[in-house]
Parts: sequence; C-alpha cells; structure tokens
Amino acid sequence: MSRPALPDDTELSDRIRTLDLESKVRLLTGASLWRLPAEPRLGLSAVTMSDGPQGVRGTGDDPAETGLLAPAPSALAATWNTELAERLGNLFATAARRKGVDVVLGPVVNLQRTPVAGRHFEYFSEDPLLTGTLAAALVRGLQNRGVSACLKHFVANDSETDRTRYRSRLDERTLREVYLAPFEQVLAEAEPWSVMAAYSGVDDGIESAPMTENARLLREVLKEEWGFAGPVVSDWAATGSTVASAVGGLDLAMPGPEPLWGEPLAEAVRAGEVDERLIDDKVLRLLRLAAHTGRLGEPGQNPVPSAAPAGPTEEEFRLLREVAARGMVLLRNQGDLLPLAPGGSRAALPVPPPEDLRHEPHLPRPAPDGIRSVALIGPNAVTPYLQGGGSAFVPAVRTVSFEDGLRAALPEDVRLSVHRGGDSRLRPPYLTDARLTDPGTGTAGVRAHHLDADGNQVGGRIRPSGDWSGYSDFGPETHRVVLRTVLTLTEPGTHRLEIGCVGRYGVTVDGEEVLAGDDDRGVELILDSTHNNPTLRGIDLEVGPQPRRIALDVDLTVVEPGGYDRFVTAQLRHAPPGSTPYEEIAEAAAAAQAADVAVVVVGTNEEVESEGWDRTALDLPGHQNDLVRKVLAANPRTIVVVNAGAPVLLPWADEAPALLWAWLPGQEAGHALADVLLGRVEPSGRLPWTLPARAEDVPVPDAVPRDGVVDYGEGVHIGHRAWDKGGLSPAFPFGHGLGWTRWAYESVAVSQSSVSTDLPSPAGGDGLNLTVELTNTGPRAGGEVVQVYVEPPRDGVDRPVRLLAGFATVQAAAGARTTADLHVPTRAFQVWDAGTGGWRTPSGRYRLHVGRSSRDLRLTAEVTVDAGRFHAAR
Ligand code: BGC
Repeated sequence: MSRPALPDDTELSDRIRTLDLESKVRLLTGASLWRLPAEPRLGLSAVTMSDGPQGVRGTGDDPAETGLLAPAPSALAATWNTELAERLGNLFATAARRKGVDVVLGPVVNLQRTPVAGRHFEYFSEDPLLTGTLAAALVRGLQNRGVSACLKHFVANDSETDRTRYRSRLDERTLREVYLAPFEQVLAEAEPWSVMAAYSGVDDGIESAPMTENARLLREVLKEEWGFAGPVVSDWAATGSTVASAVGGLDLAMPGPEPLWGEPLAEAVRAGEVDERLIDDKVLRLLRLAAHTGRLGEPGQNPVPSAAPAGPTEEEFRLLREVAARGMVLLRNQGDLLPLAPGGSRAALPVPPPEDLRHEPHLPRPAPDGIRSVALIGPNAVTPYLQGGGSAFVPAVRTVSFEDGLRAALPEDVRLSVHRGGDSRLRPPYLTDARLTDPGTGTAGVRAHHLDADGNQVGGRIRPSGDWSGYSDFGPETHRVVLRTVLTLTEPGTHRLEIGCVGRYGVTVDGEEVLAGDDDRGVELILDSTHNNPTLRGIDLEVGPQPRRIALDVDLTVVEPGGYDRFVTAQLRHAPPGSTPYEEIAEAAAAAQAADVAVVVVGTNEEVESEGWDRTALDLPGHQNDLVRKVLAANPRTIVVVNAGAPVLLPWADEAPALLWAWLPGQEAGHALADVLLGRVEPSGRLPWTLPARAEDVPVPDAVPRDGVVDYGEGVHIGHRAWDKGGLSPAFPFGHGLGWTRWAYESVAVSQSSVSTDLPSPAGGDGLNLTVELTNTGPRAGGEVVQVYVEPPRDGVDRPVRLLAGFATVQAAAGARTTADLHVPTRAFQVWDAGTGGWRTPSGRYRLHVGRSSRDLRLTAEVTVDAGRFHAAR
C-alpha cells in the first residue's frame, strides 16, 4: 500500500516553533482516556489509541461496540509462523481503522519469566527470539496498513503482583541478552512508531528508577543507542512525577489530562527544571506518530480521515479460525486417535494398536465403524475461556463455542451430548435478580442509596445483579453508598453468601451486623489494577422447609483514589445448598462411557488468567483433575483439550491417549477445534513455553516482590534455558508439538553469511546459514517447525546450556523430502560485556543442535569462533 511521503523533521520543527510553551505542553497528555488533543495550527488532529493485543477493543464511546477477537498472543506464538502473525497484524489494522483507532496498544513483548504471571497469555513466549520474531511480524502487519503499534511494556514488567510499585532488579547483561532483546529486535526489524513505558521500575545496577522516569533506558538505550524516533507513552496512569518523567524520556502521559503534566510541566520549563528543547522533541515525536497514522495534515487544515473499512468480513473470521487451529499443539496422540473419523468413513479410522496392546486400557479401541457419538465434557466445554482478562479484553462480534463448532462440523447422524462435569470457578456466581427485590419498590434487583456526609439521601440507582464492582455513578456530594435488597432463598439447607468490598464497609442481615471492616489492602489492589477482585468473606444462612426472605444492607464509604473516579466496590455472590461437582462428574463419566469418543475440555477461566494479579498455583481450578481421571477411566478413546493460555499442571497427562493444547482461542474457538479434531487442519503448533510436570520443578515459581524488589536472580537462564541448566524434565519441553505426521532429520550443512559483528538486528544480519534436509516419513502431509539451538562453550562466562538461535517452518507431502533454511545471527553467539558496554563474541567451539524441540535434538554441527570469526569445526 503506497502512502504519501512524510514531512521531514525540519519542516515539523518549523511548525512546532509557531506554538508557545503552553500550547506545546497541552499536546503531551491525553485529552481523554484514549485520545490526544488536536492542534489545528500544526495540522494535527486527535490521535486515538485503543488496547490490543487480542484484537482492537475501541474507545468505548459506543457501549454496544464489539470487535474481532483473535486468539491470545501465546496462541499466535505457538504457530511459530511469521506470515500468519503479519496477516493478523493486517487484520488488527483494519479493525482499528473501522473504529477510528490510530494506535493499537500492543504487542506485548514482556517475557514469560514465571508461569504464574497473570498476563502470561498476553506475552508471546518464554524465549526472547521467538517473542521478538513474531512481534516484529505483527508490527509490520499493523504498520504496513498505516496503524501504529505501541510496543509494551518497556521493560522487565513480567508479572502483576504490586505491579505499579515493584522494581525489577537484574544485571545489565541479563537485561540486554534477555529482556531488552525482543524490544531491540522489533525496533530493528519493524520500527514500531510508539513504545509504552511500564508501571514497574528497573534497577540494573546503573540506574534504579520507575520506567516512566528511567533516563538511562528510555533516553540512552531506547532513543539514543537504538534510534527510536517515536513517542514513549506512559502506561495508563503510570506517570508519577512532573520533572523526573519529562527529563527521564517520557513523551506522552496517558490517559489525560494527567494532572502532573499540563500546567505543572509548563511551570517546570519556566523554572528552568526542564529544558524547552526536550518539550519540542516530545512534540516532534508525537507529530511523527501522527504523520505515520494519517493524523497530520497541512497547518490550518484538518486531515480528512479515510473512510472506515466495511466489515467484519467472512475472510477475517477465516483468518482468526486459521490462527486458532494452526496454533493448537498436539502434545500426545497415542495410536493416532486423532484426527477422528466420524460417520462411517473407514479409510480415515485410527490405526488399530498392535494385537498385544489391545488389552491396554489407555489405548484407543478400534471402532468397528466411524464415530457415531461424541460426549463433549468439561466446564470449559460448556463455557469456553476465549480470551484473557484485563485491558486486553475485547467484546467479541460473535463467538463460536466448542459445542457450536462441533455441531456444525459433525455429520448429522453423529450424536453430540454436552456435560459440564462440575463448575471450576472458585468464587460463587453473582446474585441475580431472580433472588433480589428492592424493598422500597418491590422491583427486582439491588438499590443503591447515595448518602451525603450527613447521611441524607442525595440520589440512587437500581441494578439487577449483585455485581457492584467499581460503581461510580454518583456525584461529588456522595460520601456513602448503601446497597439494599431483600434476598429470597428457597432451597432448604445451607446457603452461602460471599461478599467482597473495598475500603470501609459494613454488612447487615435482617438489621444485624455480620461483617464490617476497612479493607485498605483492597483499595491498594484495585488502584494497582481495576481488574483485581476484593477479598470475599462468607456468611452461611440456614433455610428450613419454608423459603426465607432476608434483608441485606451493604454500607460502603466512597473510595477517594485521587485524580481518578471516586468509586465503591461490592460483590454479592451466592452458592445454593449442595453445590458440589461430584454428581456432575459421575454423570459426565457415564456419558463418556456410553459415547464412542469423549472430548474433555478443561482449563482456566476469568478467575485465573487475567491482568491485575499473578496466580498462586499452577493447578487446574476446581475438580477438573478428578473429572479428567474419571472420564479417562470410563472411555479409552478420550481426547483431552486444554483451554488455557498459560501452563497448568496435568498430573494425568501420561494417561491421556490424545492431548491437545487449544489456548485461549478467540471468537472462532469452536470452528477451530472442530477443524483440528476432524483433521481438516493440522494442529501445527509448538509450545512457546515449557510445561512443568510438577510445581516444585518450576525455575521461577513466583514473582512476589520482596521489599519492593523482584529479583531476577536466575539471570540469563529463562524458561527452557533454566530447565536445561537444572537438568529437570518437564511434562513437555519448549518447542514440542506432534502434528499429524513424523519427520526424519537427514542432514545439516552450515555456511557463513558474513563475519561482521555490527548487527542491524539481534536476529538478522550476519551470522551463519543452516540448510537442513528432512523427510516427512508419516502417513499424511504436514508441517514442521525446524529449530536450532546454540550450545556455547562451557568455559568462562555463565551462559545458557543451549539457546534458541533460529527456526523455520516447512511443509511436505507424505514421504516427501524438503529443505529448511535457517539463519543463526551472530548475536546468538554473543554476550553483553558490561565492562566495555558492548557485545562480544567469546571464542571457542560452539555446537549447533537442530531438532523438533529443546529436548528432541536430531542433528548437530560444530563451529569454532576465533577473534569474532567463524570456522567450520573439524
Ligand atoms: C495496561 C496496559 C494497557 C492500559 C490501557 C494498563 O493497565 O497495563 O497494557 O494498554 O492499561 O488500558
């Protein structure tokens, strides 16, 4: 797509000179939550931002707005496919244009340092190279179509606990080789037009500062050393100072108007604390962004925005389906249980196991005919978790559940039954209007009474549910909000009410106080991230043969967060008597036994994977392990599907004949799963992270700050590198995935692309080229992700045992031979030398391992490096 030439910096600087200080400073903070101010004198119209990276949410101006919901980034990473990532970037650009969005806040190139990280699903991988390569492709796809990426969260913001307060402590070498690496790579390969500074801070031994004030990393590294020309945007409400952030390298304080910028910033310039040339530079960076995205016209004129593209289109749905299906990772497939052959097509039936294994209960029994009945089981079969929670959330334009997808794909004569097998949510659901009555009017629901400082009622609202999280629909005179309702409990037995409030609260039942407190920690957590949930406190209520009506009052003092909306939060949740999952599990197991095939979908949900908090354990929530075990025992032809973005422990994995990781698959979930189960698409995904077998093996089990510090003491040994260093066996290693076929790795040849160490990108430029010959030896056409790992010499510096240095995807027909061309950049051989402040290539003998995963290495070549030059090892 050809776009008009951008005005050069001299011309932009001339324009900036026409503005006085106040007018310039006004442009450096948002006009609102998502928009920057316009300035007709510069030809600048308002630049609009919106969250990614699972789609483009939009500005919420229209509450009914929906959008295309893509698979979460860890699913995209599992494709290891840059072409797909670039096409997805194109789709995001179109979605953004449709919503008048110029800047998509993504991709996220923080790393999966710990599997418990709340935003793990939003990150691509535990590996810097895989992350950087896919993110660069996505950014290209976005920006090719004139929509800016905003690469985030710069840098070492890899967990959520106390996220606005912690400082990541890591040495400069670790920062350079691991956490800065994907940012550097994306900058070099795709030139994102904006970058977001994180909430957290970094202490690299040279400077310790919050990232919005970190002059060393923002100014010296990002802007001066790497030549980043766009604006550094603060994470939302991350700006904590006027002078330190302005001088530290922050360019745009979002959202706005940020009270610490604006007039205080102009005043700091007048007082000589901030050089006005810095302000000019910030405006220049903003104008470059505006020019790239079509928001900069001639001075005095407003550029006419191009017409919003029509859609969403069927083609877009198809791409989302393709990414979701191709990213699925087939972890196990005993006796080729998958793909399924429904409805009597003998030819495609699973290969029967050898005679002597037929008694083995966990091998699939051969069906006399094609499959005629399928039991779809599991909490996530009934309520799929399609996307992670938090700012990445997109209200989807449509969703295809696993059930809908399978129904649409299975022949009509195949019976499909659906069974939840128990709820996996740990928090009971919100009370609904079915049990709630406003005592004043008799209307269904809960009424909020707004009270002033003297206790006089100054307003009110009614809502049909027990969810009053972040309620702020009241005026400045309101000091307390009292929620009042009458609860109708009909079922005899013990009902459990679970109530969670933030700040000062009191709860009465039939006029008697049952709970009271002042949850300061709750306030802190919510301010840290509004996605956090308050602590729930339980009340048991006994109901006899007669229904009980209970008057419930929740008295909340308004929380004053300073600068943002005053709010109250109360969650009123309820579990009726006898809500245990075991009856449902037994019913599901019986259904599995009666069906030809059982498909069990287990996984996480909105209580587990979200921005705002880190997990405290890796277990599947609820009783899902019991469910899987019961179903496996009931039907040996069981396919277990894991619907999760981040690792969960699968203690029964070795017993599951077929195991498929389906990620957080986005809106086309059901079609994608059906495509894979029925063999229309190969699940060609490979794990972008290591799946632990046991919690105690996990190299970095948590990221809880100690004295405000998250200590990256493991250094450069992240993810699979740490598993290799510890000599530990995961459940499934980084890079693993089976697909439909098998591969023989025949040979590898190494040639040198150049000897210079002056690299344009950590992943590109000079280094070695590898030619790998391989043959598809299986029964079907398929794709392979050929991976190369560099094993540095074990002397001198503490280096990873092996590190991923390159990969390539290839396709071949059954029986066909193919060639994979891989590039190993010089950077893969280098270490950051803190002494000289530069990269160096330690001499010695390096082994290059080529294979299917970090633990399935099939071929090896050796090279020696001597004074920065490569030689074929003899
Ligand atoms: C998140 C960012 C997001 C921003 C705007 C923050 O809480 O950390 O990733 O872009 O909110 O929603």
